[in-house]
Amino acid sequence: MKLAIGNDHTAIELKNEILKHLEDRGIEVVNVGTDTPERFHYPVAGYKVAKLVAAGEVDGGVLICGTGVGISLAANKVQGIRACVCSEPYTAKLSKMHNNSNIIAFGARVVGAELAKMIVDAWVDAEFEGGRHQTRVDMIMEIEQTQHLQEAEQ
Ligand code: RB5
Repeated sequence: MKLAIGNDHTAIELKNEILKHLEDRGIEVVNVGTDTPERFHYPVAGYKVAKLVAAGEVDGGVLICGTGVGISLAANKVQGIRACVCSEPYTAKLSKMHNNSNIIAFGARVVGAELAKMIVDAWVDAEFEGGRHQTRVDMIMEIEQTQHLQEAEQ
């Protein structure tokens, strides 16, 4: 498995912990986040990780800013991206199983390192269930691609 990771200036320490944790698990990680304490605009990291995921160059992405919100909002503007902010492992797992999330995001000001590792592990180890969930994910992508949702407009 190969993942991309990105972060802003609020999340350097946590990013490094998660990066090491993933590598210890045998996962290859491409780091496109900042590693210096100067202010860094989170949309840059969100965009870079999202582009790698959308292009299929990595199998998924991890994004960390202060809350996980801004960086995931930026990533979700890239076509094909489903970035989910999760502050606990249950939602992280279900975001993959039901929503086929391809990026997990969380906040360095919200979760500690040990909880963040559990969130990432739950997400990495989960698999999309497909079936009825595929129908709903397809509807989300229909909105993205067409700015319409046929089923809602009948
Ligand atoms: C930076 O101060 C902060 O706004 C950012 O890390 C993030 O929390 C935004 O959503």
